[in-house]
Amino acid sequence: MERPTVAFFQFLIIHLTVTGAATGQSLEKMVGTLGDSVSLPCHSIAGNGTLSVAWLKDGRITASRNLSGLLSPSENSHFSISDQGSLNINGLLLMDKGIYLCNDLSPNRDTEKQTGIQLLIVSGPTNVRTDIKPATALPNGTFFVRKGSSVSFNCSSESYPSQDLSLVFQGFASNSSVLASRNRSPLEFRIPSIQPTNQGTYSCIAQNALSNQTANQSTPLLVYYAPDRHPECYWKTGNDSSQLLLHCSWNGSYPLPMLHWGKSWVSTSPNSLYSMSP
Ligand SMILES: *[C@@H]1O[C@H](CO)[C@@H](O)[C@H](O)[C@H]1NC(C)=O
Ligand SMILES: *[C@@H]1O[C@H](CO)[C@@H](O)[C@H](O)[C@H]1NC(C)=O
Ligand SMILES: *[C@@H]1O[C@H](CO)[C@@H](O)[C@H](O)[C@H]1NC(C)=O
Ligand SMILES: *[C@@H]1O[C@H](CO)[C@@H](O)[C@H](O)[C@H]1NC(C)=O
Ligand SMILES: *[C@@H]1O[C@H](CO)[C@@H](O)[C@H](O)[C@H]1NC(C)=O
Ligand SMILES: *[C@@H]1O[C@H](CO)[C@@H](O)[C@H](O)[C@H]1NC(C)=O
Ligand SMILES: *[C@@H]1O[C@H](CO)[C@@H](O)[C@H](O)[C@H]1NC(C)=O
Ligand SMILES: *[C@@H]1O[C@H](CO)[C@@H](O)[C@H](O)[C@H]1NC(C)=O
Ligand SMILES: *[C@@H]1O[C@H](CO)[C@@H](O)[C@H](O)[C@H]1NC(C)=O
Repeated sequence: MERPTVAFFQFLIIHLTVTGAATGQSLEKMVGTLGDSVSLPCHSIAGNGTLSVAWLKDGRITASRNLSGLLSPSENSHFSISDQGSLNINGLLLMDKGIYLCNDLSPNRDTEKQTGIQLLIVSGPTNVRTDIKPATALPNGTFFVRKGSSVSFNCSSESYPSQDLSLVFQGFASNSSVLASRNRSPLEFRIPSIQPTNQGTYSCIAQNALSNQTANQSTPLLVYYAPDRHPECYWKTGNDSSQLLLHCSWNGSYPLPMLHWGKSWVSTSPNSLYSMSP
């Protein structure tokens, strides 16, 4: 039994080199996610009468099982062969990528109809983030920048084997537009003099180029500005001649200013009215 089996594997290795790895024509592609499990179906098993199955990876035996034997595969091993002959791989690693071939080791099987399975490993996108510098965080977590400042955006993500990144801007009253895109991380973009029209939501969108899975992270950004002028104030007498009205306004700023009188604040509106009795 030993000798024919060895010869059989030698044949398989040659067969794989010629038809599978070399041409890639008869390959079926499967995508597995890093850390997950995958089950590769054994197409060459005839169903009835199969006694033994072996799986080869890149031409080397990775796992084999005598299906008529009483031994069942250990559940927590990296590789196991199911009762149907499928190869189960638990906790996928990057090194698991490769070309797999299932073989029915039963005597007198036609080995010409084998289909190789090319297993590809993907991971991500994860840790998608948009760093905006220099930006200040408000107590609620929203960031603001000052009008006219030079602001840089750093969009980054982790993906395997490759990814497409894009930085998308969505103004509060406009359609979204792609500011920049790149096929690797990080993606950097700069606005030399930021304006109120640049206020909106910035999203870093990452797509795994192999699995097409996408992930994004959005950051709202406010642009603060104050007018060049000083607040304008005037006074007049009130309805009652004993009243003096002081009026101050400071237009053209965002957000609306909080005007203070003396030691205590009076109003949060841009046009503040204060009356005092002499
Ligand atoms: C397998 O073979 C046995 C006897 O040769 C037969 O009785 C049985 O129906 C077959 N089963 C299948 C699924 O073909
Ligand atoms: C599979 O196991 C059965 C029962 O133990 C044995 O008779 C048979 O020879 C084995 N087949 C192979 C290919 O090892
Ligand atoms: C955070 O606070 C700012 C200023 O008060 C406000 O404009 C913005 O809408 C707030 N954002 C959220 C998400 O609550
Ligand atoms: C952008 O972010 C990535 C990942 O966090 C980091 O490695 C890189 O240095 C950053 N680039 C800049 C210009 O800050
Ligand atoms: C947004 O897009 C729609 C359809 O493409 C267009 O009709 C509309 O004018 C756009 N709005 C703005 C503010 O650009
Ligand atoms: C990913 O998208 C491209 C283009 O839309 C498509 O050709 C490809 O089949 C997709 N891949 C997967 C794994 O969905
Ligand atoms: C970001 O992801 C969320 C949920 O995953 C989705 O609803 C939203 O449309 C995405 N945004 C963009 C700009 O792709
Ligand atoms: C002055 O009188 C008008 C009309 O009676 C009244 O609406 C207004 O509130 C009064 N203003 C003040 C500062 O008392
Ligand atoms: C500020 O705006 C108010 C109303 O919006 C207007 O009445 C006032 O004249 C403006 N002041 C200046 C200095 O532009």
